[in-house]
This record gives sequence, C-alpha cells and structure tokens, in this order.
Amino acid sequence: MSVTARPWGATREGTPVTLFRLEAPDGAYVQVLDYGAILQAAAVPDRTGRLRDVCLGFDTPAEYQEKHDGYLGALVGRCANRIRGARFQLDGRPWPLAANQPPNHLHGGVRGFDQYLWDHRVQDDALVLTRRSPAGEEGYPGALQTEAQYTFTPDHVLRLTLRAVSDADTVVNLTSHAYWNLNGHGGGDVGEHTLSIDAIAYTELAADNCPTGTLASVVGTPFDLRIPRALSAGWDAGHPQIRQGGGYDHNWALRGRGLREAAVLHAPESGITLTLSTTQPGLQVYTANFLPEMTGKGRAAYGRRRGVALEAQGFPNAVNQPEFPSTVLRAGEPYHQEIAFAFTHD
Ligand code: GAL
Repeated sequence: MSVTARPWGATREGTPVTLFRLEAPDGAYVQVLDYGAILQAAAVPDRTGRLRDVCLGFDTPAEYQEKHDGYLGALVGRCANRIRGARFQLDGRPWPLAANQPPNHLHGGVRGFDQYLWDHRVQDDALVLTRRSPAGEEGYPGALQTEAQYTFTPDHVLRLTLRAVSDADTVVNLTSHAYWNLNGHGGGDVGEHTLSIDAIAYTELAADNCPTGTLASVVGTPFDLRIPRALSAGWDAGHPQIRQGGGYDHNWALRGRGLREAAVLHAPESGITLTLSTTQPGLQVYTANFLPEMTGKGRAAYGRRRGVALEAQGFPNAVNQPEFPSTVLRAGEPYHQEIAFAFTHD
C-alpha cells in the first residue's frame, strides 16, 4: 500500500488543501482531502478489470465550499443527521444549536466538520486526520478532539475509524456522507442498483423529517431490504413514508452489535458490489432526493437519484429520544466507531 500527498489548490480564503491518495498494489485507490476529511474518489475495478471511480465529488476545494449542502464525501460532525428544533437537554440543562435547516439542526450546523481544514499525518498505511472542535461550536458543549483514520487494503477495503474525546459531556455522531454510484460517479440514475440491509425496523419519519420515535417494522413495506431490492422499486412503491422522504431518506435500525456486515449495494451493469460493515447502530440511506442538478468531477452530471449515500451512524435526533441508542458522550470517555466499505466485483 502507498499513501502519497499532493497540493490540491486552495480554499476561497487561500488556505492550501492537500489531497492524499491511498493506493493498492493493483492500482485501485481512494483519495481523501484534509479539507473536511472528505472522501474525494474511490476507483475500483469492475467485472472487466477496468477502474471506475464510484464516489461522487468535485475537482476543486472551491466547489466543495460552494456546494457543501450536498455533503459530497463529507465527514459529518459533530452530530450527523437531524436534531429536532435544534435543541437538546443534557442532565436538565438546555443546549440550543444552530438551526441550519429551520427549525432543525442538520449535520453539525452552519459550519460542520466538513467545512474545516483538518490536521493530518501519515502513520504506516493510514491517513490520520484530526480536528479539535472548540466548546460552543455550533452550540455544542465541550471541546471535542476528533480523529478520522482512513486505510485502504490491497483487497479494496476502505476502512474509516472514528475516534473522539470531549472535555465535557456532549453529543457525538460522526459518519461518512459519501455518495456511491457503482457504475461510475457520472453513471446517471442509481435505480437499478440493488440494496440489502440487515434490519427489521426503521425509524419512521414525522412531517419535519425527524423520527416520530416509532421503530416501524419493515415487513410488507419498501423498507424490507432483508433480500436485495432495486432502489427504483422502493422509489416507485408509493408508500407514505417514501413520499415523506422524497425517496429513501430513512434510518434503518441495524441488527446485532459490534463490527458486523450491515448492507450490500450492487450495480448489475458494472458488476461492482459495495459491502458495508459498521459498529454503528443505524444506517441512513439517502437516495439524493434533494440533490440539485450540478456538475461534478470531470464535468459529470450529478443530481437527484444519481447517487446513494449510506451513512452508518447513531439514530437521528437520538439525543431527544431516550428510547434510541444514546449519542451522548460523557467527559473523558472514548468515542470509537468503525465503518468499512469493501469493494468486490462479479
Ligand atoms: C442526508 C439527509 C438528507 C439531506 C442530505 C443532505 O443525510 O438525510 O435529508 O439533508 O443529507 O443534502
């Protein structure tokens, strides 16, 4: 394995950005930026052996800044997904947050972790990115020291290890917001991709796109992905929850604990399969329902349903739903989660 670094332009404010390439001996590679700890590319072989870059992204730091609303490839924090009413209580004390998607808080606020430059070091085969989020940032209590470690193995497993520690009780929910199109990042609609998820329940959405609190059974619904289903079959199902999300934009309650296989995404055209394993309790699947038409890497056309984000994370709004697995991180306690994306082909 090799990790190489090269200058990759600068932000609009003039801060230089570095791109890291983690390359397997056969030439497959992933690329990560110190800006936002963003996954910028993932080039893996299809069934003919040709490399396809299956991760949506941009060619310049300025584009990531201008179009950050889509969170392409982003490392999302301090708390991924929605917090209802942009507020929570911790041990009786209220904490108001930035309401960047009024009235809710989304993906860490106005300026989330994806919009900061991270410190970096290369340690053996790993790229280690670190960032200290000060107390009060976007309203959160506690200074949070965060580490995101990326590795890429010779057999094409991209592993993301997420660690954090806070000096005061706080809320943490880190994830990768990479969008995948296993026919290639400019490969159009992902409707023919099949997806399976090891879950028998999902968190039902209320009208504000936060969970109602009910863990709804997947049985007999388009959310039953225990056997693979084409994404378009879900979109077209006319289920009220699908209408609420404009497609899939829901969190599945994953079965089991510890690092386990959670989901399998497959593209019949390219033959590429992505198998996601994680320690996280939930998996938000977002079929880019609100992604505006935009130009991506190499002038590729991106937009609605042209990629799918598989966000392994804590449940949305968990801090306000005591029945959900907790996203509270107590002072001095270690936060540690793993997300692995394994790429194979038929
Ligand atoms: C997803 C979220 C969507 C949308 C998107 C960003 O994680 O579930 O509703 O906000 O991020 O555009």
